Amino acid sequence: MRAVTIEAHHGPTVFDELLREWDGESAEIRYEAESGAWMFVCIHSTQLGPAAGGTRMGVYPSAAEGLADAMRLSAAMTCKLAIAGLPFGGGKAVLAVSEIPHGETRRRLILRYGEVLQSLGGRFSTGPDLNTNVRDMDLLPHAIIRSEDRGGSGSSAPATALGVLHGIRASVRYAFGSDRLDGSLVLVQGVGAVGSQLAELLVQAGARVLISDVDSTRVDEMASRLPVRTVAPERALRADCDVFAPCAVGGVLDEHSIPKLRCRIVAGAANNQLAAAGDGERLRDAGILYAPDYVINAGGCLYGLGLATLGWRQAELERRLAGIGKTLTTIYGEAGEQGISTSAVADRLAEARLGNLEGRAPTLTARDTLGPAE
Ligand code: NAI
Ligand code: PHE
Repeated sequence: MRAVTIEAHHGPTVFDELLREWDGESAEIRYEAESGAWMFVCIHSTQLGPAAGGTRMGVYPSAAEGLADAMRLSAAMTCKLAIAGLPFGGGKAVLAVSEIPHGETRRRLILRYGEVLQSLGGRFSTGPDLNTNVRDMDLLPHAIIRSEDRGGSGSSAPATALGVLHGIRASVRYAFGSDRLDGSLVLVQGVGAVGSQLAELLVQAGARVLISDVDSTRVDEMASRLPVRTVAPERALRADCDVFAPCAVGGVLDEHSIPKLRCRIVAGAANNQLAAAGDGERLRDAGILYAPDYVINAGGCLYGLGLATLGWRQAELERRLAGIGKTLTTIYGEAGEQGISTSAVADRLAEARLGNLEGRAPTLTARDTLGPAE
């Protein structure tokens, strides 16, 4: 998948240029005058089924950066759903705001965004992502996730975190020979919906846990009830640890940050962790085992789409979540044998599932990983 990069000073005039460079199917762009918010709904691929993906809210240097993020994230969703064996295509929405709204202002914004989703007539279904939550989903049409008191299945974050935990175990087994986490030192960057759940699971598994977040209230709250140590956000990348688990923003792994890392494994929930495609290779050269983000963080989709939309039972969900670890083990083995990065193997697997490999026979099959799509 091609990454689109633009400079922060670019404004709306580059929308056209961005979209022409993109390999996705369609983009819905709305400007909401009342709040000054931009709404981008990018449908990257409907090859495997109707598009699904999270809705992210964020403050971007320019509206064009918000669109570029939605485009990149929607491409990652296509890969995530393909590898997870789910019969859905990739999409993503970004609500680019000047500041994260609360209360009635937030409610109005979400309702306006709901009108956009309504106008798409079900071509895009959504779930929570960075800075959105299950309460926001309750206000939206075509939401995959709803709160339990609205008859929904509740937040996807616990399932995402559990999938990441399976992924961390598989990574630790591959790197150190045992999947026991007691004694392992894991740094969780971002203790929001997913990261806080992951930190709890890691503590229960006996790991020594470091947490870091730009929101000091969240850090203090966690540190007051769990045996975790804290790291200042600006020091997180340099912290000594066995596993670095990015669970906040994307783009944290680049030519500047990778040389600073002092971990053996990167395995976390954040979407689009690699700033550029070559950063997978850079991690390999640095001797760091990388769990491709869209493989390890599929738990929320397995939960929302599997349970609510496809009608899976809990046991099937648990099997699929555990399958995330199996998929990673297969990817690590393949990357080791072929001498290529784990992200390159994941991309190849996704392309194979999408039928886009053009003659290069994939060595990974659905049976090696999560099982066939329902
Ligand atoms: P969230 O908005 O609940 O939490 C994000 C946390 O990261 C917040 O506590 C925030 O203060 C913190 N943060 C932001 N920038 C940071 C930085 N530079 N350094 C340290 N902390 C920072 O978001 P959520 O839902 O937990 O998602 C986290 C990541 O996981 C996102 O990248 C999201 O796309 C991804 N993800 C989420 C899924 C879900 O089910 N919610 C599923 C799959 C992926
Ligand atoms: N944030 C989720 C992800 O990136 C989006 C999502 C959650 C989609 C739940 C569907 C269901 O995977």
